[in-house]
Amino acid sequence: MSSPANNSQMLYVNASDARAFIEGVLAGNGVPQENAIIVAQCLVEADLRGVDTHGINRIPSYMARIRQGVLDPNASPTLRQITPAVAQVDGHNGFGFLAAHTGMATAIRMARDIGVGMVSVKHSNHFGMSAWVVQQALDAGMMSLVFTNSSPALPVWGGKSKLMGVSPIACGAPAGKGRPFIVDMAPSVAARGKIYKALRRREKIPKDWALDKDGKQTDDPAKALEGVMLPMGGPKGSALAVMMDVFSGVLSGSAFAGQVTNPYDPSKPADVGHFLVAIKPDLFMNLEEFKDRMDYLYQRVVGSDRMDGVDRIYFPGEIEQIMKEQRLQRGIPLVQAEVEALNKEAQRVGTDSINASAPTIRSRL
Ligand SMILES: NC(=O)c1ccc[n+]([C@@H]2O[C@H](COP(=O)([O-])OP(=O)(O)OC[C@H]3O[C@@H](n4cnc5c(N)ncnc54)[C@H](O)[C@@H]3O)[C@@H](O)[C@H]2O)c1
Repeated sequence: MSSPANNSQMLYVNASDARAFIEGVLAGNGVPQENAIIVAQCLVEADLRGVDTHGINRIPSYMARIRQGVLDPNASPTLRQITPAVAQVDGHNGFGFLAAHTGMATAIRMARDIGVGMVSVKHSNHFGMSAWVVQQALDAGMMSLVFTNSSPALPVWGGKSKLMGVSPIACGAPAGKGRPFIVDMAPSVAARGKIYKALRRREKIPKDWALDKDGKQTDDPAKALEGVMLPMGGPKGSALAVMMDVFSGVLSGSAFAGQVTNPYDPSKPADVGHFLVAIKPDLFMNLEEFKDRMDYLYQRVVGSDRMDGVDRIYFPGEIEQIMKEQRLQRGIPLVQAEVEALNKEAQRVGTDSINASAPTIRSRL
């Protein structure tokens, strides 16, 4: 892979400045302040965890959808309780972050009361990095399942054209002294956001990520976006993508079977669905014992004997948690073109530019 954006060319923004910038742009586009705070928090959490594909750089495309009239900046989700353990959220075509946040808060409340809470979310939008929803559950001491569907990007196994989304499957569990367990992964070899990021940064992509429109391998992100993503693990990745559609699309009443609108298609609302579950971890033993068992699992995993050339074994989610600790200190790196695209959004609505600067000597160390 070529890498024109080395660290010395990066500009850095700290997390609170990034959140303030996003809140300003959102407010300028008609998003109520209490909702803007949630969206900003979720996007910056992605940047802090190193999931740059699903953070602040999504602002221009989200604002474009507001201007195109296919995402309602003013919408707030509504809730319908179905049973004591089940609720439904209608996102009313507002930000997916808001619908998923309300959904997980509701699932947590039900799990506190009766052990488990399940929420189906309809008429939502892209909610970015799934791990922020998992973290919302972890912050409340809960295990979770976080599913979403998304627009077509991946052919089903044996198929030629894109049909399923590269819809991430995510889940988590709290730990005691060790790091919590967080899985968050697209069923493709790589998330499509990584291709958009390579395009923005003028980088090449590995040849096993996608095929071009003629079905040929490509390392060109623009050609990959015209073609199809490749599933991870062949038919197994394809099956997971269908699973996300069953639980998030079919069950919820949202779009499914290839009908979710691409975030870059201005013709109609996305109509994304989500499926969220919160589970109390001390249902079958006391909390201390559960956490001890999680810590034991963590130690067994990271302490496993290593293959030649492997310096360290990580628990799922651990790399991103370490990245967050670093980025809270050093700031979030952006390339100049990304800063310019963000500032263009600020100019459109007359709000402050982003406070991004070259790395200090300390942060370069
Ligand atoms: N909302 C949407 O529609 C949508 C669609 C696609 C992807 N996404 C997001 O894109 C992001 C990136 O997805 P991805 O599939 O490229 O993730 P990834 O391949 O970077 O990571 C997948 C999982 O593997 C773990 N992992 C990675 N390297 C590891 C290592 N060396 N040791 C142990 N564990 C390791 C990570 O902690 C993570 O849980 C996710 O946050 C996902 O939610 C969102």
